[in-house]
Amino acid sequence: MGAPSKAASVARTPTYILFCLLALVSLTSVFLYKLDRFAAHTKTVAGHNLEPTPWHLFPPKNFLEEARHARIYKIIQCSYLTCPYANDTFFKRRHSESSRPASKCPDFFSFIRRDLEPWARTMIKMDHIMAAKNFAAFRVVIFEGKLYLDLYYACVQSRMMFTIWGLLQLLNKYPGMVPNVDLMFDCMDKPTLSKTEHRDFPLPLFRYCTTENHFDIPFPDWSFWGWPEINIRSWEEEFRDIKKGSQGRSWARKWPRAYWKGNPNVVSPIREELLKCNHSRKWGAQIMRQDWGEEAKAGFERSKLANQCDYRYKIYAEGYAWSVSLKYIISCGSLALIISPQYEDFFSRGLVPRKHYWPVSPDKLCRSIKFAVDWGNANPSEAQAVGKAGQDFMKSLNLDTVYDYMFHLLTEYSKLQDFIPVPPPSALEVCPDSLLCLADQKQKEWLQKSISFPSPRPPCTLRPTDADFLKNWAQNKQRVIEDVREMEKLES
Ligand SMILES: *[C@@H]1O[C@H](CO)[C@@H](O)[C@H](O)[C@H]1NC(C)=O
Ligand SMILES: *[C@@H]1O[C@H](CO)[C@@H](O)[C@H](O)[C@H]1NC(C)=O
Repeated sequence: MGAPSKAASVARTPTYILFCLLALVSLTSVFLYKLDRFAAHTKTVAGHNLEPTPWHLFPPKNFLEEARHARIYKIIQCSYLTCPYANDTFFKRRHSESSRPASKCPDFFSFIRRDLEPWARTMIKMDHIMAAKNFAAFRVVIFEGKLYLDLYYACVQSRMMFTIWGLLQLLNKYPGMVPNVDLMFDCMDKPTLSKTEHRDFPLPLFRYCTTENHFDIPFPDWSFWGWPEINIRSWEEEFRDIKKGSQGRSWARKWPRAYWKGNPNVVSPIREELLKCNHSRKWGAQIMRQDWGEEAKAGFERSKLANQCDYRYKIYAEGYAWSVSLKYIISCGSLALIISPQYEDFFSRGLVPRKHYWPVSPDKLCRSIKFAVDWGNANPSEAQAVGKAGQDFMKSLNLDTVYDYMFHLLTEYSKLQDFIPVPPPSALEVCPDSLLCLADQKQKEWLQKSISFPSPRPPCTLRPTDADFLKNWAQNKQRVIEDVREMEKLES
């Protein structure tokens, strides 16, 4: 029995030491308690202490798999003690600007000015930013080459983390060149700022897609840097493998059918309609259901994008809003059959019907698909050429082009700000090390594959503003689509 001897030793201990010990214990517990509270109020890019967006609910993230003290330590270590000590000497290095000449930006970069047109006269004022906050999941302030993040809501899965990573890599790529900006971002799918409802006071809000009837400003989505939850790697890796996969069969040996594989249960009327076209003899189409739960269990073997290029025709159907699948579908080099989309992402506006894809009508959907398949089988070299042009378009949309788009969008946006962006007190700096610090093992592996380095070449040069250019572009597109509709009518 140890108690009596312990009591005896306590009795011999001078009272002041006892007092000190007691004070230390209580101070430590107060400190731990405060630390706990502090961590519980620190929001992170991984989603700690954030609720899902009220305008689009989803199951909240669960971080309970980590022990509580480990989680507290991680939140504090990553959020407060990483960026100040990060070694970014490498990224500070700047190439001399003349080391390589700039190229001309792709034509579709002209849409940047159209997207920002609503603020061309009024400019973007702090009032705009504060009003856009009501629709935002987070606010990004880039200030003197550093990124500050003010978090309001969680984003589904890891899309916030991968989006912010993309911005950090842009800062790495063009050190000292990205201007100071203050912008609001919503990471959920559907545009929210209708042009009729917000006509009197258009709000600038970044997200992944827009429509003709919305003010939302499209920005490259997270999947360009990867989507670990469904095993999609960074865009450059996926493109390389899809292209290789597409060469497995010659055009003549590809199945002469239109193929679609995806998730029809995403509240998408067009995908539900598409299920009715699943008949290879009658409609020339094969429509397959993708069950992500099942795929995950099977190690994603059957959902590998590179294995889906064995068909001459690949269908694109929008999901709940735009779908990240567009770029993978066109990359196959098969003839992409695009069912007239309602949503546009930043690059899809650059696709020209009959040059890069075949436009399919959402009315009489199965008939329109059948018509395209018959046309392609009757005109194989033309169909193959369009498929190839689509693949070449996607090849030119490499990550360098994506960064250049981001660069020009932020630069044009910054020219409209009529205030000096300053990080708000509630924002925290995020740097590549602090983001990696918060990432789980799989996310970390994914992210590290898309680290960018200072570019030896300046960003591409934007073509001068030309109001007629976009007008002609839209008219041209409309005319080609009408021609195809006419061909369909003649056939039936
Ligand atoms: C930081 O990284 C560079 C190389 O990128 C290295 O030369 C330097 O010693 C590092 N500095 C510290 C303090 O670790
Ligand atoms: C479409 O038809 C094929 C072949 O008959 C079948 O294997 C597949 O499950 C069908 N797809 C759907 C979504 O029902």
